[in-house]
Amino acid sequence: MSEETTSSVVLDNRRYWEAMAPYRKGETVESLLSGTSVLNDHERAAVGDVRGRRVLQLACSVGDEALTFAQLGAHVTAVDLAPSHLATGRAKAEVLGLVVDFQEQDMMNLDQDVTGFDLVFISWGGLCWAPDIGAWARLVAQRLNPGGSLVVSEHHPLWEVLTVADQGQLSVSGDYFNSGRDGYADPLKAPEITRTLGVPDLPHRSFVWSIGSVVSAVLAAGLTVRSLQEFAEPDMYPGLGDGAGSLPATYLLTATNGRTQP
Ligand SMILES: C[S@@+](CC[C@H](N)C(=O)[O-])C[C@H]1O[C@@H](n2cnc3c(N)ncnc32)[C@H](O)[C@@H]1O
Repeated sequence: MSEETTSSVVLDNRRYWEAMAPYRKGETVESLLSGTSVLNDHERAAVGDVRGRRVLQLACSVGDEALTFAQLGAHVTAVDLAPSHLATGRAKAEVLGLVVDFQEQDMMNLDQDVTGFDLVFISWGGLCWAPDIGAWARLVAQRLNPGGSLVVSEHHPLWEVLTVADQGQLSVSGDYFNSGRDGYADPLKAPEITRTLGVPDLPHRSFVWSIGSVVSAVLAAGLTVRSLQEFAEPDMYPGLGDGAGSLPATYLLTATNGRTQP
């Protein structure tokens, strides 16, 4: 990854994530060895049979999902900004006897040879680190083979901006339409390590991409949106009570590059 071509926002975010590395290890090797899939049922259905497919995971962190794709028989490239997270992923791959090509890359500025994929996957707090959703979607479209798929499985942007305040009242703590934010107004939206250990306390900037902005960016990049599902996850609105089941907490978008693969 070249520091010259990487934006200052991304470099700040890299320092932030790198500082989290000693505390963020993901699933244990034992758990992955026992066949635990870190992909949920919706994700498994969306990615389909990945055996023999070339899969690119963006913002892979310590690589649990990438390792799961490899366990399922895919040829996996997994990129992340933070070298220490990638090192954790590589160490797990070695113990598991799996091959994953972990690469230190800015997902906004991928090397030219990171291309030719049947599936691009991003999930759970990955997309919020893209400073420009239009540029991100264009880059993904360029790296997909004809007929290849994009699967985005993410926190819902409405969840990102809603906070359960005292006595189960909802308040608006972010701007659904104005994406950039420094830090987190609602601690629940910060990475788990930051919430539980208070680290790292370094500048970082993430982005709330509205559903409309994601769909529009994907369409403008020339991809065809195949599905957009929104899910309730009541546990993600702790303290809200029954109403939590009536709000979206996550979403899953699938899109393809032209014709669908057989
Ligand atoms: C919440 S984590 C990863 C989500 C992953 N699905 C998981 O559950 O482990 C966010 C990751 O995004 C990475 N990241 C942030 N900005 C990035 C960028 N511009 N390019 C690549 N990775 C980035 C961070 O280093 C961090 O590892």
